[in-house]
Amino acid sequence: RWAAATGPRIVLLAEPRSFCAGVERAIEIVEVALERYGPPVYVRKQIVHNLHVVADLSRRGAVFVDELDEVPAGAVTVFSAHGVSPEVRDAADRRGLRVIDATCPLVSKVHAEARRFAAEGRLVALIGHAGHEEAEGTLGETGGAGVLVQTVDDVAALPGDRPVAYLMQTTLAEDEAAEIAAAIRGRFPDARGPKRNDICYATTNRQASVRAIAAESDVVLIVGSANSSNSLRLVEVARHHTPAHLVDDQGGIALDWLAGARTVGLSAGASAPPSLVDDIVSALRGLGPVAVEERVIARETVQFSLPKEALS
Ligand code: F3S
Repeated sequence: RWAAATGPRIVLLAEPRSFCAGVERAIEIVEVALERYGPPVYVRKQIVHNLHVVADLSRRGAVFVDELDEVPAGAVTVFSAHGVSPEVRDAADRRGLRVIDATCPLVSKVHAEARRFAAEGRLVALIGHAGHEEAEGTLGETGGAGVLVQTVDDVAALPGDRPVAYLMQTTLAEDEAAEIAAAIRGRFPDARGPKRNDICYATTNRQASVRAIAAESDVVLIVGSANSSNSLRLVEVARHHTPAHLVDDQGGIALDWLAGARTVGLSAGASAPPSLVDDIVSALRGLGPVAVEERVIARETVQFSLPKEALS
């Protein structure tokens, strides 16, 4: 137990944290589809990268599949928040699926940039992570003109036979992405790119608020699943200052992380439900007195409307 004699342990909450507008919209799309059409509603890939969200929607009748050939012809099918490549859209058309697209509008914006740069005859360097569904979808939009760039070293390997443009996955660490973009502009002075970057507001805000709490914390806990890109980046940001751990929920916390920690920083990735943060605060209270404080670096008001296929 935390010794009461030393005063309450401080839990420092990062704000903003947890669900972003794109994740809320994607989950609502599955919920509306379940209500409107009844189960099963098929979802290609995890709707968002979070175990609890996927388990909850599965209980309610969503069926998560890896590829569209697992979906019966004609069935209602939701595309995940990370977006899909044109090949996936074509495959859905061929199977006559009733598609509802939950791609985050901020990912769709990057897709539009990818198509525009490819149409200009440019090589499109996508700064991102191999194997991530968003990177696959965005590369697909370049129609073969895209190359994934994961590190500064990858920039040297880009072919130099065409004009170049660059784009980013929306959930990258800002400083790393900026460094790679600078390396691209260094090698290709005429390279085109997004105005500032393609990192979305939610990623930017969550990284900034974690930076603020980590500087004051003895340990930081980030709620999120292991395949959540933006949650992993929050752990990395926190680790610049203090030890930090990714947990799916309160069950993932090891007590020895908390030993001697007077101030515990707490945040959650954009795909992690806010209730999991509340559960962790309750669990910490179970270990002894706790005073909760919040560090607010921004108030988010972004909301996205549902796609027309979900409403009609
Ligand atoms: Fe969209 Fe950014 Fe969330 S791209 S899904 S608002 S993390």
